[in-house]
Formats: sequence, C-alpha cells, structure tokens
Amino acid sequence: MSGLAIEAVGLVKDFGATRAVEGIDLAVPAGAIYGVLGPNGAGKTTTLRMLLGIIDPDAGHRTLLGEAQPLRAAPRVGYLPEERGLYPAMNPREAIAFMGALRGLPLAEGRARADALLAAHDLAHAAKRPIRTLSKGMAQTVQLLGTLVHHPRLIVLDEPFSGLDALNQQRLEGLIRAQAADGVTILFSTHVIAHAERLCERIAIIAGGRVRFEGAVEAARNRLRPQVRLGTRRQTGAWRAALPGDARLDGGVWRFELPEGGVEPLLKGLIDGGAGIDTLSIERPGLHDAFVAIAGEAAAREMAKPDAEPAA
Ligand SMILES: Nc1ncnc2c1ncn2[C@@H]1O[C@H](COP(=O)(O)OP(=O)(O)OP(=O)(O)O)[C@@H](O)[C@H]1O
Ligand SMILES: [Mg+2]
Repeated sequence: MSGLAIEAVGLVKDFGATRAVEGIDLAVPAGAIYGVLGPNGAGKTTTLRMLLGIIDPDAGHRTLLGEAQPLRAAPRVGYLPEERGLYPAMNPREAIAFMGALRGLPLAEGRARADALLAAHDLAHAAKRPIRTLSKGMAQTVQLLGTLVHHPRLIVLDEPFSGLDALNQQRLEGLIRAQAADGVTILFSTHVIAHAERLCERIAIIAGGRVRFEGAVEAARNRLRPQVRLGTRRQTGAWRAALPGDARLDGGVWRFELPEGGVEPLLKGLIDGGAGIDTLSIERPGLHDAFVAIAGEAAAREMAKPDAEPAA
C-alpha cells in the first residue's frame, strides 16, 4: 500500500470542561515506524483512540487505511491498549487465538500461529499455563503477540515499552523493526525519547493536547545547530573574536552553537588568532535536545521521569 496509512486533520476532543486534544493533525506514511511523543496527560491515548475509531472526535476527521470510518479497517488493524488485560484463566495460546478471532482470523489458524509466535518469543513453555501464573512482562508479550496474530497492516501500540525490562524492551524494538520490514505500519506512543530516536523515521511531539512538531526525526534534530565544545591552551588573544556571541565558558571548556558560516571559518579564526586548540568536538544534537527546544524544559523533564529505560 502506498500513501498514508493514517491521516488526521484538526482532531478535537473534550471531556466535559477539559479539552484533551486541540486540533491535532497527523500524517503517517504507509510502512513507517511512527512515534507519538509527549509527557503524561499530553493527549496521546485520546488521539490514538480517535484514530482507531474507539471514540469519535468532537471536530476534525481522520482516515485509517483508507477508511473514513476507522472501524471498517478493524480486521487490518492491531491495537495494544494502554490498559493491559487478558483473561487470567485463559492460557497464552488460547488468548492469542481469541484476539485473532476478534479480528476475523479462524480459531484453528490462530492457535497454530500462536504456537509459532510463542515459540519464537521463548514462551513455548508457558503456552498452556493460565495467564494468571505469568509475570507481568510475559503477559504483556502475550498480549502483544495477540495484536499481530491476524497479520494486520497497521499496528497501534500505546506505551508498549512500559512495564518491560531492558531485555524485553530490546526484543520489542526488534519485533517492531521486523514488522516494518514486512511492510506493516507501526504507530506507537511513548514518553521515552530514546525508543523513538532509535526506531522512528517520523514522529509527532504532543504537549498540552497540541502537536508541537510533526515530521522526520532528522527534521526535528535539524532545528538545532550542532554544538561545539572547545578547549584552548591560551585564554586570551585575537582568537576570541572567532567565538560567537553565545559562547560560554563551562568548566574550562567553551561551549557554543556552530556559527552559520560553518566549521572552516571558525577553525581559521581560532588558528590564525593563536588559540592553541587543545580539544574540539562538534556534535549534532539528539532528539532529546530537539524535544526540549520544541516542547520546553518542563515537558522534557516529564518525559525523562517514568519507567526505567535500557542503557542506550
Ligand atoms: N475519559 C476521560 N474523561 C475525562 N478526562 C479524560 C479522559 N481521558 C483523558 N482525559 C484527560 O485528557 C487529557 C489527555 O489524556 P490522555 O490520556 O490522552 O493523555 P496521554 O498523553 O495518553 O497521557 P499518559 O502519558 O499519562 O498516558 C488529560 O488531561 C486527561 O485527564
Ligand atoms: Mg496515555
């Protein structure tokens, strides 16, 4: 499928006096891994639920896999809700087959696929144990397998990484990449920037119910200039004229944004002016820095807070 897997224009949702989402626009290309980033209460879940047709927007419209009524696309969609839940007395094999059946997959086929999926995720030993005897992370993996057992073209995952340990977070990243390699579109929400930075081509940054940025991760990063760190042997001299106005000394090291003219005029000024360059690094800002610039320090602090993330 070419074009857009999801398009949303001007989505608005009020809950009583609370405006949860205020005019959200999104465009998710078919086959993309797309991240929706934002702190707690930003409006991510509300947006996802509107995209899926679980709730209707108060204004705006959306198209899901070409359907203006999103529920018509349901058999081609997989969804992991934020609130996890499986029937505790069911076993993983039955639970996965049951979730597939809800999306139109015959039960016998679902059971066969469940066995293969459980084996591929080292859960074959638990295939017939009641779900109530599984760990939280294991149960979450089972639910995740249930969201893709019917081979959806679009998978929507609400905070899929939360509640998983570092190993299982890594596995989930692998699973998302494998689905994308098969041409499946993946949309997930997260408040852990590192996951989005590693996985996504495109992102939406949502804060306070509004989209603050929508586009390629690279475009977000390119909003900020590269950062220079410079250590010199001489403290004074003509070379100081080569430093831009925002340069500040921090622990004996100058820090500033790479000037518009680029690296060569900077170096020439430093060398000709006799700085005696000791150390020099020029680094492109990561998505975290871009997030701070786009959504603000307060939102970025919220993002950093919750679940432990694997050492990147
Ligand atoms: N059913 C509801 N009734 C009333 N208010 C709601 C309801 N659902 C969401 N809200 C409010 O809408 C706003 C956005 O909530 P939402 O759950 O979409 O945020 P979120 O970005 O998913 O947050 P989190 O990271 O905590 O999951 C919040 O202010 C929330 O309190
Ligand atoms: Mg949420």
